[in-house]
Amino acid sequence: MSDRSVNEEWVKERIRSGRQLFSNAVSEPDGEYQTDQQLRKPQPPLAKAPMTDRAISLPVDFGELPIKNDFLSIINQRKSHRIYTDQALSLRELSYLLWCTQGVKSVRGKAYATLRTVPGGGARHPFECYMAIRNVEGLDKGLYHYLPMTHQIEYLGAPDDLEELIGKTLQGQRWAEKASVVFYYSCVFYRAEWRYGIWAHPTVLIDSGHITENLYLAATSIGLGGCAVAAVDGPEANRAFGVDGKEESIFYSMPVGTVDPKDMEAEDAFYAFVRQEGL
Ligand SMILES: Cc1cc2nc3c(=O)[nH]c(=O)nc-3n(C[C@H](O)[C@H](O)[C@H](O)COP(=O)(O)O)c2cc1C
Repeated sequence: MSDRSVNEEWVKERIRSGRQLFSNAVSEPDGEYQTDQQLRKPQPPLAKAPMTDRAISLPVDFGELPIKNDFLSIINQRKSHRIYTDQALSLRELSYLLWCTQGVKSVRGKAYATLRTVPGGGARHPFECYMAIRNVEGLDKGLYHYLPMTHQIEYLGAPDDLEELIGKTLQGQRWAEKASVVFYYSCVFYRAEWRYGIWAHPTVLIDSGHITENLYLAATSIGLGGCAVAAVDGPEANRAFGVDGKEESIFYSMPVGTVDPKDMEAEDAFYAFVRQEGL
């Protein structure tokens, strides 16, 4: 039997270890355990260093954007969009989406923590944001990385076929190939583990939801649409962005694009199976 074979025991074990994430018992392991922060080990950096010398500054005059500010109507309008009209986003719109999801408002202490537009357990913010950009005014099509400390993006290069890369990294969800930008989120594990050690991982997963909820609401507020995607092919995405998959791994994504209310019927077709199967 190969290591990859699926049997009842294997499934039980996977489910057991998944459930383990929800049982953060502080009594474990008998008070002996100390995290690296408690052991006074050096703190890791608050954000990943630039990967290139190709940083591009982003506009921050968000007052120029027609932002809807009726909070309740934004909440009520938020929905997942998987059909995009393939128009370009402006650089200011991209900048706004990045600011609303990972923007650094201030630093706590000398360099103890970043305070961002999203909350985060212990203000660890262990995430990095990468992007597959297809259609943003003034930017070359290709792969990018967000630099939150300076609110810049850096150009990582262009694959031979960006659309194919998007489909592959999202487990064949080809609807995403028409998004203007596909955001990919990684976790730099030790940034959270330094403080929370063996208890870091559930908090990280909880925190990642804040990012995409802000992205949903920010996109809605400027008339764009997107859809959170957990079905990411981690190894494919890591390879695409040069992420090692051990200390850091991409695990979550959200394509965003321009949308048209006329496409609502086509959007609903994604759920045709509900009617067909009488669910
Ligand atoms: C954590 C998470 C993962 C998701 N993963 C996918 C996905 O891989 N593919 C997809 O088409 N939709 C995905 N969605 C979108 C959900 O299917 C969608 O939010 C749900 O059907 C409710 O619809 P609404 O967002 O329009 O309210 C995901 C949403 C969340 C929050």
